[in-house]
Amino acid sequence: MKKGFLVLVISCLGFISCEVKSSGVASPNENIKVNFHLNEVGKFFYTIHYKNKAIIDTSYVGFEFTNAPAFNKGFIAKVRKPEEVNETWQMPWGEQLNVVNHYKEVKIELQEKENLQRKLNLIFRVYNDGVGFRYEFPEQENLKEIFIKEEHTEFNLTEDYKTFWIPGDWDIYEHLYSTTKISEIDAKSYISKTNLAQSFIPENAVNTPVTLVGKEGVHLSFHEAALVDYSGMTLKVDTKNLGFKSNLVGSKNTAYKVKRSAPFKTPWRTIQITDNAPDLIQSNLIVNLNEPNKLGDVSWFKPMKYTGVWWEMHLGKSSWDYGMEMVDGKWKDTGKAHGKHGATTQNVKRFIDFSAKNNIGGVLVEGWNTGWERWIGFEDREGVFDFVTPYPDYNLEEVTAYAKEKGVEIIMHHETSAATQTYEKQQDTAYALMQKYGMHTVKSGYVGKILPKGEYHHGQYMVNQYNNAAIKAAKYQVAVNAHEPIKATGLRRTYPNIISREGLRGQEFNAWSSDGGNPPEHLSIVAFTRMLAGPIDFTPGIFNIKFDEYKKENQVNTTLAHQLALYVVIYSPVLMAADLIEHYEANLKPLQFIKDVGVDWSETRVLNGEIGDFVTIARKERKTENWFLGSITDENAREIEIDFGFLDEDQVYKAKIYKDAKNAHWNKNPLAIEIETIEVQKKSKLKFNLAAGGGLAISIKK
Ligand code: NOJ
Ligand code: CA
Repeated sequence: MKKGFLVLVISCLGFISCEVKSSGVASPNENIKVNFHLNEVGKFFYTIHYKNKAIIDTSYVGFEFTNAPAFNKGFIAKVRKPEEVNETWQMPWGEQLNVVNHYKEVKIELQEKENLQRKLNLIFRVYNDGVGFRYEFPEQENLKEIFIKEEHTEFNLTEDYKTFWIPGDWDIYEHLYSTTKISEIDAKSYISKTNLAQSFIPENAVNTPVTLVGKEGVHLSFHEAALVDYSGMTLKVDTKNLGFKSNLVGSKNTAYKVKRSAPFKTPWRTIQITDNAPDLIQSNLIVNLNEPNKLGDVSWFKPMKYTGVWWEMHLGKSSWDYGMEMVDGKWKDTGKAHGKHGATTQNVKRFIDFSAKNNIGGVLVEGWNTGWERWIGFEDREGVFDFVTPYPDYNLEEVTAYAKEKGVEIIMHHETSAATQTYEKQQDTAYALMQKYGMHTVKSGYVGKILPKGEYHHGQYMVNQYNNAAIKAAKYQVAVNAHEPIKATGLRRTYPNIISREGLRGQEFNAWSSDGGNPPEHLSIVAFTRMLAGPIDFTPGIFNIKFDEYKKENQVNTTLAHQLALYVVIYSPVLMAADLIEHYEANLKPLQFIKDVGVDWSETRVLNGEIGDFVTIARKERKTENWFLGSITDENAREIEIDFGFLDEDQVYKAKIYKDAKNAHWNKNPLAIEIETIEVQKKSKLKFNLAAGGGLAISIKK
């Protein structure tokens, strides 16, 4: 708070709107208070208090354009009377069935007093678990075509928070999290570390969600909601004055970062505010800020576990490509097949049989279509991949018919190699082919630098590519799980065929990265950062932790029990059982948990957790009302107590417990697991020891 500044809250009760110099709005429970002010030169700023403590200090907003003077001062303000909304909506699939959407909203109408008299509205929604605000450019004479050079939204903080962050890369989110104070953030230190196919880190900025913990236990997470026809926002770090400032992802091809015409609304800028870590995961702020379902009934998409032709390529057991050659612009089988191709009819049938036998709904098939001989590392990737033509040893018709007979669905794969024009051109035919064969889920991929050159994965051009692909796919009853995606911003509420995505350092890094893979703490950070944005396709369930027969230098850095716990800790309506069939068949006892665990929930309870240390989540399966519990820890062994108070009154449950054995350790003894069945009830409280890098998984049935 600026010293000596008097907060003058003018109540507009009884007016539709009234002119003010300052005003405010509080959350329904009054814990969060947002105040707005105009300073002496008509600059607009806001502040936020949580439980009477200043959280966001004087933070200005404004825009710079390439075609018009800056838009940040000389404003007069009118404020509408706040409105309270309290409604409940249902997720067609999700971490819970009913979602309460309870907030107070206020609209502030700014107008330049002189000169162009341009208008800009700010809409604030204050929830009990945080704040969302967005800009609205209303229709007006002196601002029609809008070319945004930069959005200047500030988030100034009041202390040097402990921060869990990844760099503000314009092209990829697949970085390990750093834990430092804000004053110590050095995003550019990542530039030399990255061995990714695409990466561009132009500023000392972070990507969102970025999560912060204060000295007195305040937890904050900054992100955005409803990212539509706009650029992704990174947050430039002010290491001196302690705060963030929006820095939009740009393009090499234009001086502006966003092009729109009025009227339009920007995405919401969001701040989740809680006084403990578990409540961050329980917060529904991001989905709530999105518009209701526009697709109607999406019951053609069924949440599912899946296996697939995938890990074997990352291990080098088989390959995506077949060994074809491009002759006169066409792929030909010239007799050079190398015999290592993974997506063969026969191999996929093995996965179908395995899935059918183990209560797993899907099989992902990567490397089924022509083009894989020329993807990664090639400059000219347009016109290479084809999304309807299988390799000679893969019979799509036979495979889909066989899957159907076994009650399993084949998951389509579209690796676009970031050649956006080729993909856009083929989308209709590709999705129609899927519909013809009864395939309702596509995993898409955008590996490599974006074509057209000069665009980045997180800029406006690509935001539209991702969103348009999903909207088009919905017409063919296809649900989308994008890899190398744009961040999740809760659009799954509006388009519930946007089911999952990558957008983090996934399991695959454990198979091949040269930096030691994902450390044991990885998911204990991800659960409180990336996962606040939405469902994650992380591909858990690696049982052969060391896989020395394939890669001596690589391994998964967790115990086997930790891998099982991830089926509950990570939320996604599609969750892979990623390991090879033979590795599961050698471990049938722990496989039972994957067989049993649900993927679609009516309730979620985050029982305990500290960011970067540990987290325990219990979820209730919609169909069966069985509960499943997952708990993971970082590199430190620890004892956790589980309070089973979430169970129904007067019921005895059978709990099958999968826990780290006494001598288990992520590196020295990762496979040591103990499995036992006991009875539990609502009043049960039990203590468990998690090994270093360990975990705990429990299935709880009536
Ligand atoms: C990267 C994806 O994250 C991975 O899952 C996939 O196997 C490869 N691209 C190939 O598309
Ligand atoms: Ca990836």
